Amino acid sequence: MTDPLQPTPLTAGNWKMNGLSASTGELAALIHAVNTKTAPTCGILICPPYTLIAAMAAQAAGSTVMIGAQDCHAAYSGAHTGDISADMIADAGATHIIVGHSERRADHGESSELVKAKAVATHQAGLIAIICVGETDAERDAGKTLEVVGDQIARSIPDGSAAENTIIAYEPVWAIGTGRTPTVEDVADVHSAIRSALVARFGASGQAFALLYGGSVKPSNASELMAAANVNGALVGGASLKATDFDGIIDAYRV
Ligand code: PGA
Repeated sequence: MTDPLQPTPLTAGNWKMNGLSASTGELAALIHAVNTKTAPTCGILICPPYTLIAAMAAQAAGSTVMIGAQDCHAAYSGAHTGDISADMIADAGATHIIVGHSERRADHGESSELVKAKAVATHQAGLIAIICVGETDAERDAGKTLEVVGDQIARSIPDGSAAENTIIAYEPVWAIGTGRTPTVEDVADVHSAIRSALVARFGASGQAFALLYGGSVKPSNASELMAAANVNGALVGGASLKATDFDGIIDAYRV
C-alpha cells in the first residue's frame, strides 16, 4: 500500500519558448524510451509552449508521459487579449501548470500574490499547480536564501493547496540555465525549510507535497541531486529539450 504521506516524485521538463511542430519528434523519442526501458518510479511531465499542448497531449495519450503548460492567466475567461486561461489549458489536454517561474516573476513583474491567484485558477480548472520559488544571486550572497524562499512560499501557495493539486519547485535563479548548481547540502537545507513551512501550515499532510529541485539539472548530476533529503524530482529546462538528455535524468528514478 502506498503511504499517503510519501510524495510521488516527478521529473518535469519546461521547454520555455522553444519548440515547433517538428519538436513533437522529441516527445515520440521520449515515449519510445519510456515504453521500452524499466518503468521509472517518478511521473514524467513535459511543458511545451501553448501552441504544442493539444498536439502533444494527443500524442502522449495512452503513454505515461503527461503534458503541462508554463503559465496561465488568473481569470477564468474575459477581456485579456493574448492570455490563456487554466480552463483552456485543461481543455487542450494538459494536467499541470507551472506558475511563478522566476522568468515570469522577472520578465513580467509577477508578484507572489499574482502567482497565488494563478495557482487558484489552476486548481479551479482541476489541474496541478507547480509553484516555483527561488532566490537571486544577490539575495544568496546577502545570506537571505531562506528568508526569500520562506516569504515566497508563504505568499504564493493558496490555502486550498494539498499534495494532490500542488507541487513546489525550488529553483535558485542563479542556477537556471547557467550550469551552476547549489551543493547537495544547500539543496537539502532549502528543501527541509520548505517542508517545515508546509507542515507548519498544512499539518502532517504537508509531508506529502512533492518538492522539485530545478536549475541546471542534467544527466550527470541528476542522481546526486535527486537523492538529497526532501527532493522529490526535478524541474528541467535546457536538458528537457532533447529526449536523450531528459531520459538520462529520468534514469535517476530507474532502479
Ligand atoms: P535549466 O532551467 O534546467 O535550463 O537550468 C530550469 C528551469 O528554469 O526550470
